[in-house]
Amino acid sequence: MTHRRPRLACSFAGALLLILACWSVACGAAGPGRAAIATAHPAATAAGFAVLAQGGNAFDAAVAISAALAVVEPAGSGLGGGGFWLLHRAADERTVMVDGRERAPLAATADLYLDEKGRFQARRAQDGALAAAIPGQPAALAYLATHYGRLPLAVALDPAIRLAREGFAVGRDYAVLAGYRLPALLASPAARRTFLAAGLAPVPGWRLRQPDLVDTLQALAARGHDGFYRGPVAARLVRGVREAGGIWTAADLADYRVVERAPIQFDYRDMRVISAAPPSSGGVVLAEALQILAGVDLVAQAPAERIHWTVEAMRRAYRDRARELGDPDFVDLPLARLLDPDYADALRADIDPDRATPSATPAPDGSAGLDRHTTHFSVIDADGNRVAATLSINTPFGSAFMPPGTGVVLNNEMDDFAAAPGAPNAYGLVGSAANAIAPGKRPLSSMSPTFLEQGDRIAILGTPGGSRIISMVLLASLAFAEGADTGTMVALPRYHHQYLPDRLFHEPGAFDGAVIEALAAKGHHVEAVSRRYGDMQVIVWDRRSDALTAASDPRGEGLARVELPHQTASTSMTVGR
Ligand code: GLY
Repeated sequence: MTHRRPRLACSFAGALLLILACWSVACGAAGPGRAAIATAHPAATAAGFAVLAQGGNAFDAAVAISAALAVVEPAGSGLGGGGFWLLHRAADERTVMVDGRERAPLAATADLYLDEKGRFQARRAQDGALAAAIPGQPAALAYLATHYGRLPLAVALDPAIRLAREGFAVGRDYAVLAGYRLPALLASPAARRTFLAAGLAPVPGWRLRQPDLVDTLQALAARGHDGFYRGPVAARLVRGVREAGGIWTAADLADYRVVERAPIQFDYRDMRVISAAPPSSGGVVLAEALQILAGVDLVAQAPAERIHWTVEAMRRAYRDRARELGDPDFVDLPLARLLDPDYADALRADIDPDRATPSATPAPDGSAGLDRHTTHFSVIDADGNRVAATLSINTPFGSAFMPPGTGVVLNNEMDDFAAAPGAPNAYGLVGSAANAIAPGKRPLSSMSPTFLEQGDRIAILGTPGGSRIISMVLLASLAFAEGADTGTMVALPRYHHQYLPDRLFHEPGAFDGAVIEALAAKGHHVEAVSRRYGDMQVIVWDRRSDALTAASDPRGEGLARVELPHQTASTSMTVGR
């Protein structure tokens, strides 16, 4: 950018323009001049706007939203979990990913979930205290407030504390997920007392109050990072985990640190894509798939041909996920090769336009289809600061284990490691030694908070959905590149291929009969999943037309809101379902 000194003898019109320009800069008009927030729950969207109204920026709003989601979506994310916060700071155009992913306990071993015959014991990696990795979300919230926010952490946590204290009426998703995880929740007395109604899954409308979580949030608000990772809260967490058969120590919590990482960045045609870096596989898989597809004229393809190309790109990118990816602090990842457009050219050349490429090994058992867990939100503030954040405790209610006296339900993110070669995890994903368990290591994730930049248009997006997160973001990115608006992006019919199992999954109604027939004739194993999946939250800012829009997935219960220019009242509301 170049700056010119204004000439002294300028015309009246010139002076007026200059004054206006200075006023614009002073008012932060480099941004959209109003904010937008899209989250999976109306109370979280409200928490974000409440903090903006107190002078906070998008990063303060991100803290408030993350904490509020921990309260109102306890099945999806929380202080007992972790996530990735993709940030863009307008003032210096800094784009960075704050990695608050969970870490394996220091006592973890590669064979932690194998029996004496070396067989994977999935239940031990998914239910109870042994399934829990060391949480990163509290550290990330303290870090965001300190390094990027304008307000004290306590101010940003206040809406969540109030929600936890006063309670809220649970929705349909909560009731369904509590029923789904009932046996595991019953096994943890504190989780049972907190999340169930007399030992049963509550009905929608039941009021969930979380007094122990109030205390833990207040400790975080008062003492920042140390309020969770040292002192009484940490002691309660470690004691509770160990008494229930887990392996945490005080050192695990005291050692936890967030990491700032450079996001994965690449071009798809005329669009810049900025997405999650390892230990998420999201950015790498997106880069491979989109760079393969950049060489195909997708718009000119008939529907079945377009799906075939897209699925074959997914297959190859997820294959590399399985073979190559893990925590970059523990393994050397061949990122230069995987992200090289020449490599994508070679992968594309290997695709037969007429035949599906069989995945090399037989389909393993395992579900590819949990979807109502994890959460995503998108934020932009008036100055143009942006956040795309995807947060998780892994499968619904995580491990379903709550250390007594903490109000914190712990993740079961240990299941995101490759527990044994060829052993599929809860999403049917397999992995290699790159994602083997090791002390202090972060498990490979699929969470893909993403920014898209195409000319004057910017999108902020992401979704929950386990291994399907990346294919959902891929489909939405292709749609954005072709001019789709926010409503279209969140509502797109979805399909997914993750290499193994060798199945082309699609939402009910996503494909018509002729398309299914054409895909089957090419050799695809086409399979409808039982229900629609994902809960995407998208914001699009068009700088040229000054349009700011936001949408929340119609499959979910979320709320997207855009402020009116120069007002705090809201418009452009999109409510999920
Ligand atoms: N726990 C799901 C993921 O990180 O991919």
